[in-house]
Amino acid sequence: MKRKAEAVTFGASKPTANENVVLQKKTVGEIIAQQRGLDDNCAIIGMYGMGGIGKTTQAKEIGSMAETSGLFNKVIFAVVSRNLDVRKIQGRIGDMLGLYFQEESEMGRAGRLFERLTTQERILLVLDDVWNFVNFKEIGIPVTFEGKGCKIMITTRQRNLCSTMGLRKTKEIPLRLLSDEESWNLFKSNAGSLADTFSPQQDDVAMKVARECCGLPLALVTVGRALRNKDLELWRAALQQLKKSKPLNINYNEKDIFSCLKLSYDQLQSEEAKECFLLCCLFPEDHDIKIEDIARYALGKGMFTDVETMEEARRETRWIIRNLTDCCLLLDSSTADSVRMHDMVRDFAISMASTGEHGFVIKAGLGLKEWPNQETLERNAVIISLMTNHIQSLPDCLICPKLEILLLAENEVFEVIPEGFFLGMPTLRVLDLSEKIGARSLNRYFEPDKWTSMPSSSFKLPSSFEALVNLRTLHLNHCKLDDVAVLGKLKRLEVLSF
Ligand SMILES: Nc1ncnc2c1ncn2[C@@H]1O[C@H](COP(=O)(O)OP(=O)(O)OP(=O)(O)O)[C@@H](O)[C@H]1O
Ligand SMILES: [Mg+2]
Repeated sequence: MKRKAEAVTFGASKPTANENVVLQKKTVGEIIAQQRGLDDNCAIIGMYGMGGIGKTTQAKEIGSMAETSGLFNKVIFAVVSRNLDVRKIQGRIGDMLGLYFQEESEMGRAGRLFERLTTQERILLVLDDVWNFVNFKEIGIPVTFEGKGCKIMITTRQRNLCSTMGLRKTKEIPLRLLSDEESWNLFKSNAGSLADTFSPQQDDVAMKVARECCGLPLALVTVGRALRNKDLELWRAALQQLKKSKPLNINYNEKDIFSCLKLSYDQLQSEEAKECFLLCCLFPEDHDIKIEDIARYALGKGMFTDVETMEEARRETRWIIRNLTDCCLLLDSSTADSVRMHDMVRDFAISMASTGEHGFVIKAGLGLKEWPNQETLERNAVIISLMTNHIQSLPDCLICPKLEILLLAENEVFEVIPEGFFLGMPTLRVLDLSEKIGARSLNRYFEPDKWTSMPSSSFKLPSSFEALVNLRTLHLNHCKLDDVAVLGKLKRLEVLSF
């Protein structure tokens, strides 16, 4: 019988919770229910979530609560990490159990460990930071043993890891991002005593800084500590850097947010997955990223090998995006066929993508009114995204000899595209000019179902358009065009959307 997880309490003995830790009560409730054996359908719990969301912190807290409350006689905490070392884990578990192996071989040790872990003693085994398949048998951890002995909890960045291990009776529990109130409390407690005595002005900046962390504990703690007891000017500078998706330019020794996220990026198996991930930061913050858009950009850029048709590209993209959400680099969206990117992950992706190797220039959704002046960058740019801005006029000619993707969708009223605009980008493969009058700005005035009847002035594709001999993907949605004859000259065009 399943009982409601939240209703589970520890009973008489009071757990010693660390007051600096924001506990996710629902998650803790569910896990405790499993540990108490109230949920018969679950032998192993996998707690998953993106890097820095607090898996290790929560697991330690739950472990110590479970031990203090008397639910378990012993809680063993073993870190697995990316390169699983069987002998090391056996040693760690053995040490915690006061078990000293006489056996030399891993198999011999596994046998001894198995024996010990299947005694009557109630043991909770927490395997922290699991990245890949764990061969429990090889280590000596009893998973098929039911009723008594050891219970297992693993923490991982990988959704569905337990089920992909082929284990029966598993339960996957996601950790969520912190609420605004939880975030503010955690941030404040790390920003130091000054935070308690903020002037209203400081309070305002501090709240904005905390909001930039978007509920990610690692960010709240690191940014909070970095600004501890610093003056208002520094707070303002930090806010500006965060808003511009830059890593904070303040020295601190804490676990670095970007390097934490880079671990997930580095373990992506294919270059296609890495590239698809980076394509997701081309959209503005908090954007519902359509998987279809990623598929079209990726196909246009020629990212996929062995893909012949749009349908194949869609399938490949959906597969990759699924993997990216499984490893928590992307988030599910409430809209079907879309995904989201956490702000901090987006900042990290931008920092990766902006290197010379990738050559992204990303200024999406920044409220720009003018074309940014970044000549040197543009010359080396491979991908430029200026979508969702208020840019009113374009430069006469854009010299970007390496440019492959140019995204100008959702910009307000650039009625004229200069005749020579497209002359300096011979390698362009993907162009998005959709919704020149941005859907976002329209949204302020009109209901979405009236967009199509919105009277927008028509515009003309300039003569330099025919120089785009490598163009594969062209988006002209919601654009009112006078004359489209020039499209006939784009011999390599594969995807046209309008
Ligand atoms: N619920 C929380 N309350 C207070 N601080 C937290 C909480 N969660 C995380 N933190 C802080 O954030 C930092 C990162 O958390 P933690 O190491 O637990 O994340 P993680 O999900 O295990 O990350 P990784 O995937 O890299 O292992 C910790 O050092 C801790 O200080
Ligand atoms: Mg961890």
